[in-house]
Amino acid sequence: MAFSYMPGFGNDFETETLLGSLPQGRNSPQRPAYGLYAEQLSGSPFTAPRGTNERSWLYRIRPSVKHTGRFKAASYPLWKTAPNVGDHELPLGQYRWNPVPMPKEPTNFIQGMRSITTAGDVLGQTGMAAHVYVANTSMIDDHFFNADGELLVVPQVGALRFVTEMGVIELRPGEIAVLPRGLVFKVELVDKDVRGYVCENYGAKLTLPDRGPIGANCLANPRDFKTPCAWFEEKETPCRLIVKWCGNFHLTEIGHSPLDVVAWHGNYAPYKYDLATFSPVGAILFDHPDPSIFTVLTAPSGEEGTANIDFVIFPPRWLVAEDTFRPPWYHRNIMSEFMGLIHGQYDAKEEGFVPGGISLHNLMLAHGPDAPGFEKASRAELKPVKLDNTMAFMFETRFPQMLTRYGAELETRQDNYIDCWADLKKRFNGTPEGDWS
Ligand SMILES: [Fe+2]
Repeated sequence: MAFSYMPGFGNDFETETLLGSLPQGRNSPQRPAYGLYAEQLSGSPFTAPRGTNERSWLYRIRPSVKHTGRFKAASYPLWKTAPNVGDHELPLGQYRWNPVPMPKEPTNFIQGMRSITTAGDVLGQTGMAAHVYVANTSMIDDHFFNADGELLVVPQVGALRFVTEMGVIELRPGEIAVLPRGLVFKVELVDKDVRGYVCENYGAKLTLPDRGPIGANCLANPRDFKTPCAWFEEKETPCRLIVKWCGNFHLTEIGHSPLDVVAWHGNYAPYKYDLATFSPVGAILFDHPDPSIFTVLTAPSGEEGTANIDFVIFPPRWLVAEDTFRPPWYHRNIMSEFMGLIHGQYDAKEEGFVPGGISLHNLMLAHGPDAPGFEKASRAELKPVKLDNTMAFMFETRFPQMLTRYGAELETRQDNYIDCWADLKKRFNGTPEGDWS
């Protein structure tokens, strides 16, 4: 079955599966067509300014109050929530991991969530968590919603299908999806084993960054974002709904599927985006801009220019700058950087940072190209070079990222990561030429 999508970012969408199921000219008719219930899903306070006001009207077989019964506690011990401080004994440092191992037991998307870092405070609706998911089992009768934030999903291995109450998103590595706070969904696997990264955003929603002098085009263009058309199922068999709420998990049993939205309209909805449609902008004579030039989506913090989260990619691109050290420069940063590699090679670390791997460069901890990368880039002939077959990304936040015990004790952590800079030589010898022997 092919699922269809509507283009645009933050549009006021409308979609119906049955002719006439979407009311026209009003939101809440006395008797909606087909005996549906009208229900509003609000992603912002009612009174948020127009530019950030987000809500959708859902027309469904049963209202959501029928999709929860009495709750009981549920346990997903590897999914952590901020504040989660002092969870481990690992000393401060720059860290890198090989991929999180695939599970041997049957594991669905929710059970397979492994938190690596948390930042900020979910109770203050600020900060984020960086997770890796690994799964080998589809969710059949289990459904989930997250009251703690929206989920930005970055697949790395295997295709999956997010069957949400507002429509179906099929997702493969190279694409990303954003599932809004509160949206009910389940995850079906298209491929046998899947792995990827998730940024859980406790704060204001991800949005497109302003382009400033870049103008009206390039970077991520709104038309390349795809929101699913309505889809529903009428399934009258036992189902479960799992809720993540302020860091705890709760479970409720119901007698039917909650994925029963026949029509909807509004601007609060899930979407996907193909990273290959990102149009990178960079230096065309010398030096290079800060990595923020590659921001796909940003979640503001309330302080101008200081993101709660920036989602940044390092896509294929031409390197043309003259008299320039072309890889990322050495730096220390008030923002904390969680990096992943979807496929290929990252230009500052040709070895050691493998697809599915993770690196973590936290608040004010120094990092930059490894010694072989520095050597190569310092002596390279500066002709135009296409950096191809690569897609790295960064979840960057203004808050320090607290490592979880799972991340600290993960057997794929590279104990020798800091040795990648050990061979950087002293080049200073008092002469303007320096010592390049
Ligand atoms: Fe950095």
